[in-house]
Amino acid sequence: MSGQVREGHQGTGPGAITPDGCAVELYERLPVGDEPDVIERAVPARARILELGSGVGRVTHPLVERGFTVTAVDESPQMLDRVRGARTVCGPIEELELGERFDVVLLGSFLVHTGDPRVRRGLLRACRHHVADDGCVLIQREAAGRHENLPQEREIAGGGLVRVVSSEPVRPGVRSVHVEYVFPDVRWTQTFRSRPLTTEAFEDALAEAGLTVDAYLTEDRTWVRAVPVRTGR
Ligand SMILES: C[S@@+](CC[C@H](N)C(=O)[O-])C[C@H]1O[C@@H](n2cnc3c(N)ncnc32)[C@H](O)[C@@H]1O
Repeated sequence: MSGQVREGHQGTGPGAITPDGCAVELYERLPVGDEPDVIERAVPARARILELGSGVGRVTHPLVERGFTVTAVDESPQMLDRVRGARTVCGPIEELELGERFDVVLLGSFLVHTGDPRVRRGLLRACRHHVADDGCVLIQREAAGRHENLPQEREIAGGGLVRVVSSEPVRPGVRSVHVEYVFPDVRWTQTFRSRPLTTEAFEDALAEAGLTVDAYLTEDRTWVRAVPVRTGR
């Protein structure tokens, strides 16, 4: 997939751009938020984590510092070049076949909202396929109202501004979202497809993959811990 573009995804600005429109240099600049705290609270200490769509390691690095063993997967070699302290695997998540299972599989960055249901099935299949029977899958979902009342902007800690400019329907159930990242010296944009999922649709998609919600981890219900569905006795 590297070098290609995912349908409906585009990025502008300096440096390498991933197939889903993310700028590598932007992710190098973006500070980490509360993701490592949420993850650390939800999983056993020193767990083996498979992180899907790791980018440059914005979340990976704090997890490694906190004693987790991380395998970072991304389809962008330029992103993975920046990852330190973790094993890296380059390729599309939906084709992942590592032949091993992990205590925790992490699918962050709203990737579960991909516009293409086949890709979503592939992502969740990869989660189920690589999680230990007694392990868990952590998934980050969009917050309610993410596509409403736009444009909206917020400051980036340490400087800069992220502005969600628009979210327009492109076909039933799928939206095209345009985001700008503005710094005093540079500007990046990303356009990507998103499929909003009601809680019911999200849980149905999990069930189809053989996963079920164990807990909603945050008050806004954006972080979810899912576990494999137990079959038989
Ligand atoms: C929005 S960035 C977030 C990176 C990182 N999770 C973070 O929070 O900083 C999404 C990353 O996922 C990767 N990605 C998106 N879809 C992918 C797929 N289907 N297979 C492999 N990598 C994917 C992109 O290349 C990009 O590096």
